[in-house]
This record gives sequence, structure tokens and C-alpha cells, in this order.
Amino acid sequence: MPDHYNWAAVDDYIAERLIGDDPVQAATLASNQAAGLPAIDVSFPQGKMLQLLARGAGAKRILEIGTLGGFSTIWLARALPKDGRLLTLELDPAYAKVASANIAHAGLSGKTEVRVGPALDSLRQMIDDDVPKFDFVFVDADKENYPAYFELSLKLCRNGGMLLFDNVVRDGEVINPTSDDPKVPGARALYDALHANPNATATAIQTVGEKEWDGFLLAVVGREEES
Ligand code: SAH
Ligand code: DHB
Ligand code: MG
Repeated sequence: MPDHYNWAAVDDYIAERLIGDDPVQAATLASNQAAGLPAIDVSFPQGKMLQLLARGAGAKRILEIGTLGGFSTIWLARALPKDGRLLTLELDPAYAKVASANIAHAGLSGKTEVRVGPALDSLRQMIDDDVPKFDFVFVDADKENYPAYFELSLKLCRNGGMLLFDNVVRDGEVINPTSDDPKVPGARALYDALHANPNATATAIQTVGEKEWDGFLLAVVGREEES
């Protein structure tokens, strides 16, 4: 068994060969660090994966739940066409301020909105307002609310649209029903919700890397026979 020490080095290799220098996103992480934000952003390879998934899906309207400093936001917004829009939801106004500055530095303010407040409130308001449907939703906020974010995102996403959830493996703790990681029950409840819901079809992929052992869950909205 190779030591997990190599995971970050392999991420570096992937980034060097397939991503290249990205001074804008390097500046994003530097500004996050300077502002004291926790380094819980997606990795470079994961961020580019988000971008390519959104671009491959032809997403014109993207919703993100959990902005932090906007690192994943910027990857996703880069996938948008000229008239595309991204809305990202963040609880902490100080984080949102850092994110807005990073997004401006990336030249993406014109197509990106950072909305401050509890995501559940913003999502319910958008459902009440009957906003146009999203094509792609990235969920990466408080894990306790993942099942609620799933149910609300289903209502906000078009048929055939994609929902992507971060942090659904948590060092393998996801298979432990009595895990003392408080973020695990929320992830498990998400799997339960998908198991029980015929209106989305999903899989999850485990990841290792700079962010250690975790995973993404990808769901496509709509009954399988209709997609
Ligand atoms: N997507 C980011 C990382 C997000 S970290 C990236 O990869 O770059 C999770 C974020 O969710 C934190 O910024 C946290 O403040 C935010 N968050 C936590 N609870 C929330 C809630 N109830 N509503 C909205 N955002 C929340
Ligand atoms: C945490 C949150 C994340 O979104 C992540 O990718 C890693 C860690 C956390 O809250 O600990
Ligand atoms: Mg995450």
C-alpha cells in the first residue's frame, strides 16, 4: 500500500500537467489565508473537475451552496457562457466579503452573485419566487443540512440537471452509523434521501489527494426512464 503522503504530490503532478499556472486562483487562496479563512476549499484538480462538469453539462445557470472564499465559485463561473449566471450562498458575511473581492479579481463579478444568509432561507425564498431553474448545483455548506439541500435543490434544478455534493466519504467514516464526526450523519442522510427518491439517480466517487480521503456524490435530476 502506498503511503497517503503521496496523495498531495500526485495532485501537484495533475495540476502541473493538466491545469498549469493559475495566478488568479493562487491569489484567491492567498487572500483567503490572509483573511484567516479555513483551508477547506476544493483542491485545484477538484475545482477544474467542477468547471469541466458544468461546462460539459452546458450549464447557463449555476447555484452553489457554501461559498467560503470563492475558490470553487471561480472554477464554476469560468464554465459559464457570456450570458451565464452563478448564484452562491454563504452564511458568514465576512467570508462573503472575501469571496466577492476574489471573484472581482478573477473578472467574474458580472456573472456572479454572492448572497449572504442561511442557505435554507435563500433556497426557500427562491422557490417561493419561482426563479428560473438551475442547470447545475454544487452543495458544499453545512453537512447537517445536506438532505434539506437535496430536497430544495431538486425543486430548483431543471430535469436532467446535475447536483454535486462534496464531502460525502469523510475518511471512510460515512459507513460508520455511530461516527463521532458530526458531519457524517448529514452525509448518510443524503444517501438515504437519494436511496428513497425516484426523482434523481446518483453515484458517489471516493477521492484522495491534497484534501485527503473524501468523495463527491453526483445526482442527475429526473426519473431514470425519462433521462
Ligand atoms: N465551496 C467552497 C468551500 C465551502 S466551505 C470551496 O470549495 O472553495 C463551507 C462553507 O459553507 C463555509 O464558508 C460556511 O460558512 C458555509 N456555511 C455553513 N453553514 C451555512 C449555511 N447554513 N448557509 C450558507 N452557508 C453556510
Ligand atoms: C469541511 C468542509 C468542507 O466543505 C470540506 O471540503 C472539508 C472540511 C469542514 O467543515 O470541516
Ligand atoms: Mg467541501
